[in-house]
Amino acid sequence: MNECIEKVLLSEKELHDRVSELGARITADYRGRKLLLVSVLKGSVIFMADLMRAIDLPCEIDFMAVSTYGAGVKTSGVVEIKKDLDRQIDGYDVLIVEDILDSGVTLSYLMKVLTAKNPNSIRICTLLDKPARRKAKDVSATYAGFEVPDEFVVGYGLDYAEKFRNLPYIGILQREVYEK
Ligand code: IMP
Ligand code: MG
Repeated sequence: MNECIEKVLLSEKELHDRVSELGARITADYRGRKLLLVSVLKGSVIFMADLMRAIDLPCEIDFMAVSTYGAGVKTSGVVEIKKDLDRQIDGYDVLIVEDILDSGVTLSYLMKVLTAKNPNSIRICTLLDKPARRKAKDVSATYAGFEVPDEFVVGYGLDYAEKFRNLPYIGILQREVYEK
């Protein structure tokens, strides 16, 4: 796998340290609240697993699966819910946990869908933010781990055609891999 990576962008240590910081901020901000972490499958699973252990509060978790991308590297702009939440969320302070905020189409759609379910509050925590490609102007993340350049990145949960999620770091994928 490593031979397909152009450059390591974020090492395991950098990821670990930043996730700990985000966890500490969330812990301070959500004390006494009814926190529900909603992980967006599948890209955020590793981030979610690390982040929830960095939050020193009682909290609940749930998962949603949506698809926007298909197997390619460009967003189609169409969002489909493949797995919905298992519960009602009214009264919960919902924190959406996402791998990357790219065009923003996915999170803009999710914010609308979840806001309509009447949570007590709703915010976004994204590991990566790629502002250069933003199309949806109405989304922003309260918590963001790292700003990344306009390159296709993989690892630590993020995939290309379902591969590379198990890389322990985040790297820029070589163009030859997807421009064949
Ligand atoms: P959106 O364009 O903000 O709606 O992002 C949709 C989804 O595209 C994200 O949740 C990721 O799963 C995926 N995505 C966007 N940019 C990248 C990337 O650089 N690498 C891997 N997946 C990406
Ligand atoms: Mg994703």
